[in-house]
Amino acid sequence: MILPIYTYGNAVLRKQAEPIDKNYPNLSMLIENMYETMYNADGVGLAAPQVGLPIRMFVIDLIAFKEDDPELATFKKVMINPTITNRSENEVSAEEGCLSVPGIHESVNRPESIVVQYLDEHFEEHTEEYVGFKARVIQHEYDHLEGNLFTDKVSPIRRQLLKSKLTNIAKGKTSSRYKVKTA
Ligand code: NI
Repeated sequence: MILPIYTYGNAVLRKQAEPIDKNYPNLSMLIENMYETMYNADGVGLAAPQVGLPIRMFVIDLIAFKEDDPELATFKKVMINPTITNRSENEVSAEEGCLSVPGIHESVNRPESIVVQYLDEHFEEHTEEYVGFKARVIQHEYDHLEGNLFTDKVSPIRRQLLKSKLTNIAKGKTSSRYKVKTA
């Protein structure tokens, strides 16, 4: 089932999300719905707050980038209760967008590599290190669980220029191909 994606201005996107346990109701159905919602919107990652749920979980699938890097073809992951335990000092800049902030793409600086600890969909624990694009997507989704958006990270000058666009999204004046829930 395709769920509506909550856009900029919804309070749930600014909440610190809560950890979940195995007993979270209908978790496998939720994961399936989040993937379906993400693919329908041509996204590569989707965090639970973006479908209105303030819980610590996100899904990622980088298969769309397999032409750039064959290794990305098999990078499909659910991360539950993740913690980024290490971030490299070295930062890199790249353009990002977000399904909750339609129509905006901006350069964002982030640590080039990270170590992340998380539970998979079977509640098995993993600790993994990622570099480059994978690290970037994980950090972007992780930020959603902390109530942060990529637009918070752009330079002050760019942010000033974005202000009216963001206000319009918050007022529901947005056009996207996929189903959204405006504030
Ligand atoms: Ni996002």
